[in-house]
Amino acid sequence: MQTLQVELGERSYPIYIGAQLLAQAELLTQHISGHQVAIVTNETVAPLYLGKLTKALQGFELATVVLPDGEAFKNWETLQLIFDGLLSARHERSTTVIALGGGVVGDMAGFAAACYQRGVDFIQVPTTLLSQVDSSVGGKTGINHPQGKNMIGAFYQPKAVLIDTASLISLPPRELSAGLAEVIKYGLICDEPFLAWLESNIESLRALDQQALSVAIERSCAAKAQVVGVDERESGLRAILNLGHTFGHAIETHQGYGVWLHGEAVAAGTVMALEMSRRLGWITAAERDRAVRLFQRAGLPVVPPEEMVPEDFLKHMAVDKKVQGGRLRLVLLRQIGDAIVTGDFPREILDATLATDYRALVAQL
Ligand code: NAD
Ligand code: GLY
Repeated sequence: MQTLQVELGERSYPIYIGAQLLAQAELLTQHISGHQVAIVTNETVAPLYLGKLTKALQGFELATVVLPDGEAFKNWETLQLIFDGLLSARHERSTTVIALGGGVVGDMAGFAAACYQRGVDFIQVPTTLLSQVDSSVGGKTGINHPQGKNMIGAFYQPKAVLIDTASLISLPPRELSAGLAEVIKYGLICDEPFLAWLESNIESLRALDQQALSVAIERSCAAKAQVVGVDERESGLRAILNLGHTFGHAIETHQGYGVWLHGEAVAAGTVMALEMSRRLGWITAAERDRAVRLFQRAGLPVVPPEEMVPEDFLKHMAVDKKVQGGRLRLVLLRQIGDAIVTGDFPREILDATLATDYRALVAQL
């Protein structure tokens, strides 16, 4: 087992990474201060891992809330089910909420924990690759609004993150690929040697090689912990974690939540961000294509939906959380491994990026 630390002063917490960690009860119980625990999970994950988690929590007064599965349910109505469950079971302020599932469950359970009785303890047990390398770490919690992804939420840090890499064995290949999009992101924004490692190990990762997965998860979590430790509430640096997300969130919102997976939208969105970086003269076409090839090998889409026109992107991008004073800011690459957040670009470059024929671009690879 590896243990990383997110350094946030009194809100610091460990990330445990290893196979079969769900069976190691004390990793969880040492972070539970009261006698009540509320497990929030969903209808897909519950039959797979709820039994193991419940076994590890013997002796606590347990409530379980099983949510419907899917990004389309990341909303007020589903959030209310968590509050209903907590109140019906008479959970007090000393309760601990445990999120067992992917990023959708983690974001919603974390937001519920932030709000319930003005804040109760919270532990993340992420079970998708995407949630293990990204959403469970850093304290961003929330729900979607019909007009924009993750528009309602709170920064609320967990007490611990427990990553059982063995839980990935049941993950559908499409979901594994979606997680790889965020893994590749770390290489692109801050770790070129990691990108090279991924180029050599992408097939092992897709084959669920536990050793390779552990390396990828550790390196991703270490990068995320480092960035979050510097800029917890995204006043600056943390925004680099959103490479490709402004374009990607536009795809997710436009297509309808859940039609494109978050990681899929991030992959296609990142190709757009790299094309824009190339048009600004910061990276070469060869560097852009290096990333495109890796996304393709990871089983990810690299072109936006055919039916989306530039106006569709502009409409959705206007409600991005990085908009400041009405000005759109984007995460772009100065070079591979070096990202910046900037609103200082000519409007024509953005327009040309949105008007690019990505199918033709990819066809020449
Ligand atoms: P998800 O939570 O929808 O999970 C994907 C699918 O896999 C679901 O059907 C789920 O039930 C299923 N599943 C989960 N674990 C499984 C397992 N071990 N075996 C089999 N099936 C399993 O999607 P996700 O990709 O984990 O997360 C995406 C969400 O995370 C988005 O809402 C996105 O906005 C959010 N996100 C948040 C942050 C953050 O910092 N908070 C960062 C990135 C993404
Ligand atoms: N996934 C982006 C962030 O946590 O900031």
